Amino acid sequence: MMQDVHQLRCTGCARVIALDALKENLRCPECGDLYEVEYPAWSVQSAADSATRPVKRNLPNPSALRWLWKERRTSTELKDQSGVWRFRDLLPILADESNIISLREGNTPLYELPRCAQATGVERLYAKHQGMNPTGSFKDAGMTAALSVAHERGFEWVACASTGNTSAAMAAYAARAGMRSLVLIPEGKIAWGKLSQALDYGALTCQLRTDFDGCVRVLSEVVRRAPVYLLNSVNPYRIEGQKTPALEIAEQLDWQVPDHLIVPGGNLANSSALGKAFLEMKHLGLTDRVPRVSIVQAEGANPLYRSMQANGGRELTAVEAHTRASAIRIGNPASWRKAVKVVEATGGWVEQATEAEIALAKAEIGAEGIGCEPASAVTLVGLKKLLAAGRIDPSESVVLLLTGHTLKDSDYTIQYHRGDLLREEELAPLRPEIEITRRNTVELDADPDQVLRALEKAGRQ
Ligand code: F0G
Repeated sequence: MMQDVHQLRCTGCARVIALDALKENLRCPECGDLYEVEYPAWSVQSAADSATRPVKRNLPNPSALRWLWKERRTSTELKDQSGVWRFRDLLPILADESNIISLREGNTPLYELPRCAQATGVERLYAKHQGMNPTGSFKDAGMTAALSVAHERGFEWVACASTGNTSAAMAAYAARAGMRSLVLIPEGKIAWGKLSQALDYGALTCQLRTDFDGCVRVLSEVVRRAPVYLLNSVNPYRIEGQKTPALEIAEQLDWQVPDHLIVPGGNLANSSALGKAFLEMKHLGLTDRVPRVSIVQAEGANPLYRSMQANGGRELTAVEAHTRASAIRIGNPASWRKAVKVVEATGGWVEQATEAEIALAKAEIGAEGIGCEPASAVTLVGLKKLLAAGRIDPSESVVLLLTGHTLKDSDYTIQYHRGDLLREEELAPLRPEIEITRRNTVELDADPDQVLRALEKAGRQ
């Protein structure tokens, strides 16, 4: 992998910068927007540039790549066993492959969802479960990429502000690399599972008396004043790693892309990454079309949804975010412009989900024997709404992107089944649907007769 194979282009003003000219906050000093990695030999943008600037075209051969990526799964080398670096030909961001820091991330399952398929009428319904990654969330795919870059560039410290999953992933990969990590999290607002991971992996974990958006503001000042490498999803190398689930989905469906991909929206990097991947795959001739990428936000943390309704995504007004799906409790998403571009380029939509809709959808995904964390369940809500609006036809194929493992936030699940999660007014519109999915524990004496009676009662239900 050669360092000059890739370049960084501002997604706002389109300026290309030298790789070492990237500022600590990873934003363009001219317009403040985010950078995107592009590969002049084959990137979409370079085709447009080639009129003014001669570009060496070196498009990879799609069939050779498909064969190579499959072949690597049988290799015993770490970089081949990783579901991210197995696709390294589409993310040549390192100068030296020996700098790869990997926990054998990726290669996650694409599950069928037979019960949800029956309930919604969508026969070809799948869940790409990114919660089946080493730290239990989709963040690992981006983290192996960006942390390997940090390692290659000689940083000792890496840092992020997080609603929990990014911090868990960053702390794990930093520990693996023998690096130090600084985590800023909003006090009392992240799930215990995620906090416990950051502690176990040895991060310096600071709980700030603010929300996620406040943590981001503090961290932008910290990175300006201390030599720490920023690993939030504004980091363009995170996006390169987060492209790989899209490659896996295409591979798992035998290179037939689905009609729709539905993704939860928080800071809006994941939707951007998956959209980038599908557009690049089509450009390179690996696939012949792109899925419609739709994004679903929690109703209480819906700045993109509001922006699409109000002005078609031209401007975004930050909101104060409130949702029990704490992973996506974000009011001022950094990558919103990138996400709008993906929705527009692929013909997708932006939807929102209420607290009761999220809770019910999470229980329905759980009942498939899969489970996910609350933020991931917004995807099933989005599917139901897009079907009701006639935007998805039941004959089409749909992939829901599940971002986190159900064990990340077991408090939420237990409260749901106990009936303690939702307030009366939240529950009211979905009470019957929710009641039949609830499975609270049954308290009994240590008596076989009592257990047998419980068994008999359950058998009648
Ligand atoms: N789902 C889960 C489980 C998440 O942890 C996140 C984001 C998202 C969805 C939204 O993805 O931000 O790319 O739109 N979690 C971040 C974090 C913000 O700090 O862990 P996005």
